[in-house]
Amino acid sequence: MSAIIGTSVQEAIHWLASGQPVALPTETVYGLAAPLDDVSCIKKIYALKQRPANNPLIVHVLGIEQLQQVAEVSPLAEKLVQHFWPGPLTLVLKRKEIVPDIVTAGQTTVAVRSPQNPLFREVIRTLGQPLVAPSANKFQHISPTSAQQVSQDMGDVLNYILNGGPCQFGLESTILSLLNNSPTLLRPGPISKEQLQDFLSMAIKDRDSAIHEDKPLLSPGLYKKHYSPKTPLYWIEKLESYQPTEAYRSIFEQNSAHVFLMPPNRTLQASEFVLSPQGDLQEAAAHLFSMLQHLDMLGFQSIWIEKAPNVGIGRAINDRLSRAAHFKV
Ligand code: TXA
Ligand code: MG
Repeated sequence: MSAIIGTSVQEAIHWLASGQPVALPTETVYGLAAPLDDVSCIKKIYALKQRPANNPLIVHVLGIEQLQQVAEVSPLAEKLVQHFWPGPLTLVLKRKEIVPDIVTAGQTTVAVRSPQNPLFREVIRTLGQPLVAPSANKFQHISPTSAQQVSQDMGDVLNYILNGGPCQFGLESTILSLLNNSPTLLRPGPISKEQLQDFLSMAIKDRDSAIHEDKPLLSPGLYKKHYSPKTPLYWIEKLESYQPTEAYRSIFEQNSAHVFLMPPNRTLQASEFVLSPQGDLQEAAAHLFSMLQHLDMLGFQSIWIEKAPNVGIGRAINDRLSRAAHFKV
């Protein structure tokens, strides 16, 4: 099989209605979608991704009405939804019966978000029901931020990839648990912890501190190693001032790619790359996954990438890099 990449919502609907998962664009990363009520299509998502069955899926809805069909909506949830949806914020709430067990991995909670992408929204509207969608990559591979990247990773097992161009944010959504009325950040993302705290005027717990207090939550962050390029990835402080120790010198200097967050104040060499030519973190985030995938194909022996400042979306960049890196030196 070789997936067709196209821009026809009708074609996407055709495959979904005949029980086949389809890759759809969102503002974060591409998703591999199935209708909420089609358990056999949802099973195919797990099989095609080679995803373990204990890792639950996100339900994608148009807005609060569909949210109420699948989850118990607390006042805090409603407040967040009104401000941040549609957008890259996923809420973990108590589920309702209608949600198939396969979606929640048998848990009593469900993760829900409302995507911004107009093509994705048109598919939900036409089908008249929510869609479940994990990122459209094989298990532990990089999340795709373009239709071409979906095709490279999963084109051999899919029928159709709906092309919505490159993803605006390029990092998976922020996941916030609202269980027990105690907001906990399960996955940092495009909506930052600072933004959430400012808006709610309350402290947001981090996943790690929450784990110690409560029993472990099944969540993405619990896979310490989530995805990584095949080329050994070294995650370091500032590249420009980095002085490798004797043990690392030859690896750092020979046939290696060096990735800056922002442009250095000098001309780049052929082995040097910049995540944000304009010098802002948002742009760096949007380019991160496509850069790693691109460099992985160029035959370097190692990739060296620098840390982002740990604020705003920089936290999400560092979260993904800390899990992608083979070495922190
Ligand atoms: O931006 C996104 O969120 C993208 C696009 C396609 O919407 N989706 C995405 O899905 O990143 P996925 O499956 O790659 O990551 C969702 C993560 C999973 O790793 C899962 O552990 C977590 O969300 N999750 C799902 N349901 C959960 C729940 N009830 N409690 C805690 N975590 C949950
Ligand atoms: Mg994923």
